[in-house]
Formats: sequence, C-alpha cells, structure tokens
Amino acid sequence: MHLKSVALTTEEIRRIVRQRRRDLVISERLHAEQSIYRQIYQHPKLLSAKKIAIFLSFDGEVNTQPIIEYLWQQNKSVYLPIIDLTNPHHLAFLPYHRHSQLTTNKFGIAEPIYDVDKILPYQSLDIVFTPLVAFDHRNYRIGMGGGFYDRLLQNYQHDNIYPIGLAFKCQQIKYVANQSWDIQLPEIIIG
Ligand SMILES: Nc1ncnc2c1ncn2[C@@H]1O[C@H](COP(=O)(O)OP(=O)(O)OP(=O)(O)O)[C@@H](O)[C@H]1O
Ligand SMILES: [Mg+2]
Repeated sequence: MHLKSVALTTEEIRRIVRQRRRDLVISERLHAEQSIYRQIYQHPKLLSAKKIAIFLSFDGEVNTQPIIEYLWQQNKSVYLPIIDLTNPHHLAFLPYHRHSQLTTNKFGIAEPIYDVDKILPYQSLDIVFTPLVAFDHRNYRIGMGGGFYDRLLQNYQHDNIYPIGLAFKCQQIKYVANQSWDIQLPEIIIG
C-alpha cells in the first residue's frame, strides 16, 4: 500500500503517516517489533559498536525500550539525544543508564537532564538509531521537521557514525521529494 505522495506536501505526508503509525493494531505492531528486534540482535555492526545513540519512542514509533534493555545487558554505552541549549537546532547526546533521571522537553519527549560535563561529542558515537516518520525505497526519510537528524548526520561517513533507521512497513511511501540537506540512510530496519 503506497501513498500517492506526488500530490501531497511533506506536511500532509507527515500527518497521514503519523496517523497510520498510531493506528497500527496491537498484534501487527508487536509482530513487526519482534522482527525488528531480531534483526537488531543479529546485526554485525552492533557487535563491535560501543557507543550507541537511541531515542525514546513516542507517537506510535517502534518501541525502543526492549532494544535499550538489550544494549544495557550487552554493556554498551547508551546515549539519548537532547535539544542542545547552547547550539540551537542541534542535538547533543547524554548517557542513559537504568537509573537516569529524565525530564520532558518542549516537544513533550522525555530526555536526560542537561549536564554540560556529560555531553558526548557526537563523533564518538558508533551507531545512531534514527527515528523517522516516512521513508522511500532509496532510504530517504522524512522526520518530524526539525532538521535535527539531517544536521547530525550530514557527514556521517566522515564522522564514522553508522545511522540505522527504525520503521514499520506502513511508513514506506513511494517517493520522498528530498531536499539538498536530506540524508539518505545507509540502512533502515523495517518490521
Ligand atoms: N545540514 C543542515 N544545515 C542547515 N539546515 C538544515 C540542515 N539540515 C536540515 N536543515 C534545515 O532544517 C529544516 C527542517 O528540515 P527537514 O524538513 O528535512 O526536517 P526532517 O528531516 O523532517 O527532520 P529531522 O532531520 O529532525 O528528522 C529545513 O528548513 C532545513 O533547511
Ligand atoms: Mg529532512
């Protein structure tokens, strides 16, 4: 089932696909998530990765909590993005432990409490699990519209960061009308 995206604006695609993602029935959602977790647990890049950025799910996104539990069990260093107060429109990354205290940012998303001394230079990340609203067969993505991940990942190869998108099949659209700044992901794990 492909959206006829040709006539739709990016804003309309965001609205429709977010709704579609929220509307996934629970059995389909759980089944898809199990498939995603299996793909991640067998992922060769994850074996050697030490520092991994992930996000806390909201708005019907793939539930990342089991992935986070797995990463903790594997003694990986887990980081969450925060909106960088000192560098507008950019993300910063803070460590996330089992007992980390969280606060709610202006988008209503939980994030670690800002502590300048704990910020990880993003180039130290090995893997960045990347949220997305919609994607196409070329792995171009549409995010939430902030450009945060496009900025973060603009030189990901040079920075030696490997981004992995996470998505349900229902988020695939025929074609993302990508702009010059949009990043084409090397990989999206689809459930
Ligand atoms: N590398 C960049 N440098 C400067 N501005 C950028 C960069 N990447 C994106 N932007 C700006 O960010 C804004 C939002 O971009 P876009 O609509 O592609 O967001 P998005 O991909 O949905 O969000 P995200 O990347 O957070 O998932 C655009 O106005 C764009 O000009
Ligand atoms: Mg973009």
